[in-house]
Amino acid sequence: MSVQKPIRRITVPQIRNKKNSEPIVSLTSYHSHTAAIVDQYADFILVGDSLGMVMHGMDSTVGVPLELMIMHGKAVVRGTKRSLIVVDMPFGSYEESPAVAFRNAAQIMKETQCGAVKLEGGVRMAETIQFLVERGIPVMAHIGLTPQSSHVMGGFKTQGRDKSTWKAHEDDAKAVAKAGAFAVVVEGVVEPLADRITKKIDIPTIGIGASATCDGQILVLEDMLGLNPSPPKFVKTYGDLGAQIENSVKAYAEDVKSRTFPTKDNVYK
Ligand code: KIV
Repeated sequence: MSVQKPIRRITVPQIRNKKNSEPIVSLTSYHSHTAAIVDQYADFILVGDSLGMVMHGMDSTVGVPLELMIMHGKAVVRGTKRSLIVVDMPFGSYEESPAVAFRNAAQIMKETQCGAVKLEGGVRMAETIQFLVERGIPVMAHIGLTPQSSHVMGGFKTQGRDKSTWKAHEDDAKAVAKAGAFAVVVEGVVEPLADRITKKIDIPTIGIGASATCDGQILVLEDMLGLNPSPPKFVKTYGDLGAQIENSVKAYAEDVKSRTFPTKDNVYK
């Protein structure tokens, strides 16, 4: 007889059903302790491939290997119990063919125990999204500014400034929704375009630098905490963690140098 454990985490259908209802709260996390804090407030947590830049000092997300996503994905799953955990598929792990995408997405899900994967691309990835969803892998799509294509796009550029490009972005949104994605990140597109996309598709849009009318919002945790010395312009910072860390490290260094640390309370007896 098998013993079924109750599912306590927020599920993919629960996120999907939030379309046109209460806003979806999400943040990135790459790390067990911070994920445990975010877990209390987020509907889903994204283990984004932005970790290549934020945690590992890379210039872009292009160099992030699958193994790194799996390692951070495991840490975030271990640190959380409530939010849906979505892990990014890194550049090169899904574009070649639906079969390659399936193999790598299945590895991510098996090894991390996450609830879904995210991949970048609209019309061009629709066939792959359908292939994955039909085989049991929930997919979050990502359109607009797609950082893994930053070399083709000529950098991290806001999308949709030229109205003649709007149809292509709308087609991307419709294609991923039709292919079975349960939600779509809409990154770095002009506000009226994000608003139009949100109204035109029946899956939740998750905005980042897009529009308050999206069905949910996501930010990179370190950006909103004030840890990134040069965050993107659209980021609202809710903390001043960079300064707090610096002050703490400075105070510690002064204590060590003046031999006021450790005290009797801070040593093993
Ligand atoms: O990698 C990431 O963190 C992301 C978010 C910015 C949406 O894709």
